[in-house]
Amino acid sequence: MSNQAIIDHLNEILKHEWTGVAQYSQASFIIEGPWREVYAEKFEDDAKESFKHANLIGNKIVALGGVPVAQRNEIKQSKDLTEVLQNSLAFESKAVEMYSQALELAEGNRPLVVFLEDILLDEQEGVEEYTKLLRNSQAVVQASTARKSG
Ligand SMILES: [Fe+2]
Repeated sequence: MSNQAIIDHLNEILKHEWTGVAQYSQASFIIEGPWREVYAEKFEDDAKESFKHANLIGNKIVALGGVPVAQRNEIKQSKDLTEVLQNSLAFESKAVEMYSQALELAEGNRPLVVFLEDILLDEQEGVEEYTKLLRNSQAVVQASTARKSG
């Protein structure tokens, strides 16, 4: 494993996590209407999780002898809740992809693998949570009723 290759990839991850801090914070700020009661806090928690990951990755980059980036990518924002949930699912899926690639680069470095796997679990949980939130709950109710009467 080349240290520089892993540092470069971790910096791409760091940019993604900083994007998450801004994107989820923005989603939490701008949500209005009745769903604000539920989702303002949910998005704020997700912003905090991205910050937690950025913190871990930034410190790891320095430990490996690199310099952490302070940039982020463009954020996606919307006033439409379903669209925000879709953007969130896309964000978490990209994170799973990026940490999985990092794990390939980290092969042979057991502590780094464990470190990355730990974060990967959080990201996968995010994918599963947003997938469930995006499911049409009415369709689920209909399916379970059909199963009972069938
Ligand atoms: Fe993350």
